[in-house]
Amino acid sequence: MNIAIAIDGPAGAGKSTIAKLAAKELSFIYIDTGALYRAIGLYVYRNGVDSKDVEKILPKLEEINVSLDFNDKGEQIVLLNSEDVSSLIRTPEISMYASDVSAIPQVRAFLLDLQRNMAKTNNVIMDGRDIGTVVLPDAKIKIFLTASAEIRAKRRYDELIEKGMDVKYDDVLQDVITRDYNDSHREVAPLKPAEDCIYVDTSDLDLEQSVQKLISIMKENM
Ligand code: DC
Repeated sequence: MNIAIAIDGPAGAGKSTIAKLAAKELSFIYIDTGALYRAIGLYVYRNGVDSKDVEKILPKLEEINVSLDFNDKGEQIVLLNSEDVSSLIRTPEISMYASDVSAIPQVRAFLLDLQRNMAKTNNVIMDGRDIGTVVLPDAKIKIFLTASAEIRAKRRYDELIEKGMDVKYDDVLQDVITRDYNDSHREVAPLKPAEDCIYVDTSDLDLEQSVQKLISIMKENM
């Protein structure tokens, strides 16, 4: 029987960085489900369709094949109709597209089996918004990882600046606040802590402390 660990939480809580390191330590496969929504967001964007235009987006789903692969280093690669879009999906614009398309029930249904199948065949740490509540309700461990909006925006800002992007802190903070609102107020599978989750706030923890905290929670509960 494979073990699944669900990590949910708002944008910029450090889920992916922390989960990636924890997965390495535990020899689990790390799956970033946000990348799947981002790939769909990218497709919609490239086709010049408004990210809120559900009528136009639904038929597009038939043209989309999204899958996950892993490179030699065990890092996740996202394939959109066989094209590696792993880097292209990381812009602020596509973040907003991903948030919008993720509110469409048919988009969520479209990605559900893919996520569940990954967990059937591997020990996984899966991060997202609805992993503990919807995708893997029977996950062995469910963690809800969060931090204040200001701290999350600062972390995201530093990351984008490091990548050479020209962004302003206030814009990043506004994006974080808007995405939080979108992600937690949509009708289907909104972002919310699972009843049986372990709640972790990393506002006062640095990366190393956050990783250690998560690894010790995982080891204690496995
Ligand atoms: O984790 P992320 O920021 O890469 O996710 C991008 C968007 O996808 C986010 O705004 C909400 C959505 N998402 C979701 O609805 N459910 C998930 N399991 C993962 C992401």
